[in-house]
Amino acid sequence: MNFARKILIMAIIFNTLALSAACDINTRNNQERQTSATNSNSLQHENKRDLILGFSQIGDESEWRSANTQSIKTAAKDAGIELIFSDAYQQQQNQIDAIRSFINQRVDVIAFSPIVETGWDEVLNEAKDAGIPVFITDRKIQTNDESLYVTCIGADFEEEGRKAGNWLVNKLKNFKRTINIFELEGTSGSTPMLGRKEGFDQVISKYPGLKIVGSADGEFLRSKGKEIIESVLKSKKYKIDVLFSHNDDMALGAIRAFEEYGIKPGKDVIIISVDAVREAFDAMIAGKLNCTVECNPLLGSQLMNTIIAYFNGIPIPKRTIIQEGIFTQENAKTEISGRKY
Ligand code: AHR
Repeated sequence: MNFARKILIMAIIFNTLALSAACDINTRNNQERQTSATNSNSLQHENKRDLILGFSQIGDESEWRSANTQSIKTAAKDAGIELIFSDAYQQQQNQIDAIRSFINQRVDVIAFSPIVETGWDEVLNEAKDAGIPVFITDRKIQTNDESLYVTCIGADFEEEGRKAGNWLVNKLKNFKRTINIFELEGTSGSTPMLGRKEGFDQVISKYPGLKIVGSADGEFLRSKGKEIIESVLKSKKYKIDVLFSHNDDMALGAIRAFEEYGIKPGKDVIIISVDAVREAFDAMIAGKLNCTVECNPLLGSQLMNTIIAYFNGIPIPKRTIIQEGIFTQENAKTEISGRKY
């Protein structure tokens, strides 16, 4: 064998060895990457400290919402879950942008309270494609694709509306004349607005004497509640016998408006609202609010526990409904000390 031929054979042997070593390293690296991905997943499953949660909140429109935000922040901290919190300032687009940003940041899990029910499919499909589970809390979404979210945890808003209606029917007993009801509605297209209206209607529509003479969107805001009732009273279009307000904040704003017009809230006009925040108890004790249906904002621990359970492979129900009560002037004094929001 001449010298050139020997060099060529040695070069081929060297290249083959080098190539197979490189292949080995690549395979090992791939295996390591896969193992470490599996390990880091199982670490997340076993050790909740590793989880990063992106949470999109609607805003800060009410006492209820502030208590809800506090509950989520505290529960995340207690559970050792890292929380990236985003306030949407009442804009659906801000919530969609926040969810996209969570996806880009590759969080482990996304949760949100949807301001309205429709318009979520596109962004939730993006989360699904990225393999990020989504948890819905407080309000619901409308979708034909249930696989877009893991679960929805919140109140039965229709039942809250029915409770308000039943309380009213009971209070009025055998009324002889037509009763004029004004309805202060929450954010248009939101689950609590739709549900509370529907539930209330289901009950009062059985009584022809109970007539809804007017309604308006008060966006769950105290200022709007006051503004709307002021303009109704100013217009003198009709006398309001009953006010059904979709939340306490709007009812508290309305109470101010009635008082400014010399009308005694809780006496000249029956006022029913929803949430059962502390200020509603003060108003009931002062005789200005007749009744409040409970809607519990303290959903934080349940949300965190459900997320942790999910990452531990425990089956999660598609829907969890929170049990709630109803409070009136009769029991407000004894109940107020036990209130947590
Ligand atoms: O979604 C829950 C509702 O939102 C509360 O009843 C209201 O106060 C809040 O703004």
